[in-house]
Amino acid sequence: MKLKTIVLAIAMIAAVLPAQARKAKKFTHETVAIPEVERKVIAVETARTQLLLQVDKKGVVRTVHYGAPTGDPAQFLSYRSGYNHNFGAPDAYPAAGGRFNGQEALHVAYPDGNQNTELYYTGHDVASRDGKQVTTVHLKDYVTALEVDLVYEACRDEDVILMHSVIRNGGKKPVQLRNFASASLRLEADSYELTHFHGGWADEMQAERTLLTHDTKLLESRRGTQNTQGNNPSFVLSLGHPFSETDGPTIAGALAWSGNFRISFELDQSNQLNIVSGISPFASAYPLAAGKSFTTPEMVYTWSADGAGEASRNLHRWARKYAVWKGGEVNPTLLNSWEGAYFSFNTETLLRMIDDAAAMGLEMFVLDDGWFGLEHPRNSDKAGLGDWELNTNKLPEGIDYVASYAHSKGLKFGIWIEPEMVNPDSNLAQAHPDWIVQSPGREIHQSRNQWILDLSNPAVQDFVFGVFDRTVALSKNIDYVKWDCNRRVMSFGSPCLGEQQDRFFVEYIQGLYSVCERMRAKYPDIIVQCCSAGGSRVDYGSMRWFNEVWTSDNTDAISRTRIQWGTSLVYPACVMAAHVSAVPNHQTGNVTPLKFRFDVASSGRLGMELQPRNLTEEERALADRCIRSYKGYRDLVFGGDLYRLASPYDGDYYSLMYVSPDKRRAVVFCYCLRMQNPSARSHAFRLQGLDPALKYRVAEQNVDKSCWWGNGNSYTGAFLSGGGFNPGIYKANTSAVFVLETE
Ligand code: GLA
Repeated sequence: MKLKTIVLAIAMIAAVLPAQARKAKKFTHETVAIPEVERKVIAVETARTQLLLQVDKKGVVRTVHYGAPTGDPAQFLSYRSGYNHNFGAPDAYPAAGGRFNGQEALHVAYPDGNQNTELYYTGHDVASRDGKQVTTVHLKDYVTALEVDLVYEACRDEDVILMHSVIRNGGKKPVQLRNFASASLRLEADSYELTHFHGGWADEMQAERTLLTHDTKLLESRRGTQNTQGNNPSFVLSLGHPFSETDGPTIAGALAWSGNFRISFELDQSNQLNIVSGISPFASAYPLAAGKSFTTPEMVYTWSADGAGEASRNLHRWARKYAVWKGGEVNPTLLNSWEGAYFSFNTETLLRMIDDAAAMGLEMFVLDDGWFGLEHPRNSDKAGLGDWELNTNKLPEGIDYVASYAHSKGLKFGIWIEPEMVNPDSNLAQAHPDWIVQSPGREIHQSRNQWILDLSNPAVQDFVFGVFDRTVALSKNIDYVKWDCNRRVMSFGSPCLGEQQDRFFVEYIQGLYSVCERMRAKYPDIIVQCCSAGGSRVDYGSMRWFNEVWTSDNTDAISRTRIQWGTSLVYPACVMAAHVSAVPNHQTGNVTPLKFRFDVASSGRLGMELQPRNLTEEERALADRCIRSYKGYRDLVFGGDLYRLASPYDGDYYSLMYVSPDKRRAVVFCYCLRMQNPSARSHAFRLQGLDPALKYRVAEQNVDKSCWWGNGNSYTGAFLSGGGFNPGIYKANTSAVFVLETE
């Protein structure tokens, strides 16, 4: 065969081979070069903690330390923790498809179907913002041009570090974020005991403890709204020891997000723990257009050398200063109409309740559910939500009349709304069926006879803001709004998002926050309570707009000891609304003494929620004394340092105290939860947080019959902490409250 013929034959064969096979022959793997960088250690520091990020010469960034200050960060330049090389050590922000096979913080799907991301250090900067030191570490994937900023905000005095990420699509085509966590934190300890908060309606913030074992533990919510019913996005982690209030390295964490969340604790083969926290990726493969960025919510961390008590105090101090709307400011005592009147009231009922509230020394009256809906009157939870016009049949004189009456009696006035929701039986549902969260062709499931408005829709955001705006306009004497949210999302879907349903869960909450931002821009001074069938939206995402939360619909003082103890681990007492209600308790049927109910509620923001007319003269007199004495020490509840002395989960007593920052004043709450041996009558409460050298005069509050042998006497801080004192309470549901003042 001649050469010409052979060449022709090869050319003919090549022409019939599939294009792919020909390409495969020429396949070469080209590697994009990653520029080497100078090794360094980046230190994020507070007064008593240090977080260290090591950058190796390839530009890989790893968290190598979070805990006590260790001196010169450069010591960690060549630090290698004992991680298992087969598994790999997580980056400071591990990405799917990179060097690490564990729980990733970031998972991106690119337009060509590839799902690998590898992030490398390109630089970092440090700035000061709002009293925080902000360190931003810039990372880049050199193949896809995806960029991530890891932002660490150090609150020095509070020993709190906030972490979040900003993800930017530097490529030319849209990408999909399949996981986009706020933060990842690697820890190394001999054991990890997790305390987290489980619960349901009327049963919030139930602390549960578990020793983490290998593999992954998830705390997650997929409820859309009511994100904290089920699990709260917060936890306490005891490192190398069981939970302790006073001893041992302890971390507390909380995600500032009011929607679906996921916090994963992955204990790996090397006994290292990687905590990845952020918005839950459930049904949220978030599309990110070219050039756009996504900012994740803040993950709040604190570390304490001395147990959970100090960790909580750090969070509380930080929350009062940075995280709660007007945090630490005293909110008024109040009478709420709900358990006293429910839906059955008229103007006369309300005026009499206002008279009673004023007579008992309360400072505000709050008109709860039931005041609105004209064509579909809100006389039960079956109708009216969405129709926010006054029910003039019920209150013909108007809201302004009632609010002005309250003011004339020296009380502030508050009102209830639930602006995110709609009853099918309402004008709103008929006028705007496209505003309702729904899935095409499927029944829109009801819960508490209501549907959810689609806050991812800007028109709905305007409506929801309008509900607040118009309600407040009903009277210039409205000082307080209770914002409720009584159901979770089911059959999720937004008629306005079309094919981009992946954005729904995220944009609902962004929509909520944008309404809250407008609310605060216009109404900075109105006190707004965040309620969600009780405490189903208790998180640091919502608190930045709200002054307080309705801790639980469960007003039974016995249940409240556990709910309030759990809440106090992460959230400050200034947000914790606690009401004295009638007995038998409407949720549990329990009967407890009025003094016990007052003493439990007085450790938060005190209120009442009952029909005062049903109290006896003697009970009214006790209520009067309790409210008066509360006003004398409540600045400690709102702004003091909390010390939990005994847990209702662990024993027969519950006790806590708040100490003023200068340690000159304190208030101590002691509760006996179960009957003790009457002949012993002894339980010494050992106080904490006092100055050992100072002498404190001890005065009992809320007295019905004084029970403590030392009332009015003075003792040193050393005696009260070392010896302790015994208020002699030994019967179930008895209690004592003491104020300590230096002489
Ligand atoms: C929710 C709240 C209650 C009360 C009712 C009114 O359950 O948690 O406090 O406001 O709604 O319907």
